[in-house]
Amino acid sequence: MKKLFLIGKSLKHSISPFIHNKILSELGIDAVYSNFELSDFVKLKEFVEMVRKDKDVVGFNITIPYKEDILEFCDEVSEDVRIIEAANTVKKENGKLLAYNTDWIGFKKSLEDIGVDVKDKKILVLGSGGAAKACIYGLYRMGAKEIFVTNRTYEKAESIKDLFEDILKIIPVEWLKKYDFKYDIIINTTSVGMFPNIENSPFDIENYGASIPVFVYDIIYNPLKTTFLKEAEIKGIKTGNGLKMLVYQAVEAEKIWFGGIDITSNLIAEILNECERKVAKVE
Ligand code: ATR
Repeated sequence: MKKLFLIGKSLKHSISPFIHNKILSELGIDAVYSNFELSDFVKLKEFVEMVRKDKDVVGFNITIPYKEDILEFCDEVSEDVRIIEAANTVKKENGKLLAYNTDWIGFKKSLEDIGVDVKDKKILVLGSGGAAKACIYGLYRMGAKEIFVTNRTYEKAESIKDLFEDILKIIPVEWLKKYDFKYDIIINTTSVGMFPNIENSPFDIENYGASIPVFVYDIIYNPLKTTFLKEAEIKGIKTGNGLKMLVYQAVEAEKIWFGGIDITSNLIAEILNECERKVAKVE
């Protein structure tokens, strides 16, 4: 039986094994996907050595906090990974480890699914970590007009400016309170509002005075409706959470590992429904 893994820290509540094993069993692929929690005892280096030796390993996913660290252990990186500087998917091919990023595709597909067009839009992105970079790359590829990035640590936001210089503007977080700039879309990529700190919100949408955005997105999926999204809905704004992004990035990873497979929209819809039920139970 072939093997796939998710490596990261604190994976206990991850629903990725459910998503991948459902796809694998529905498609009749003889493989199993499991969490592999790294620690001070089993480090990234040891895990990669194990993967290289084990002929049954097809590939693995990477989550927080290893999406950047993994790159030094890979033999080749895709063009997307080179720009985003982070990978969430690795495939073993002819003994080589190839790094990919499917987060940005998951983000792009989720927006398409929700029916949001970012072309020529003015967008505010909250946060500047790995997830922010994947989202910004997606927005850039989809033709966003201007992207404003704000982050608790200003220098970290500054450090990503060069990646997409022409459309990216960094604004200090204090400016959010001082000035009411008008944005068409606001996207939260920070962990603010995530379970268990569900009362927190990364942006005071309640008191946002400028003309309201048409859409706000939170990449968090636990809870399904963060305080940020709830407050936006009260204002009549269309919202989206991160569950579709999670499922679509998994679908894209499966396609990389097992080229030529067809994951139908019916199966994706079924997985989304089951994930919603699972997350709602944990909330
Ligand atoms: P990921 O890969 O999920 O993006 P990350 O690289 O650790 O994870 O980035 C997390 C983002 O959430 C960062 O932008 C972080 O801000 P800092 O750069 O200042 O650390 C942001 N973030 C996390 N906790 C936050 C908090 N309590 N308030 C504001 N921003 C926070």
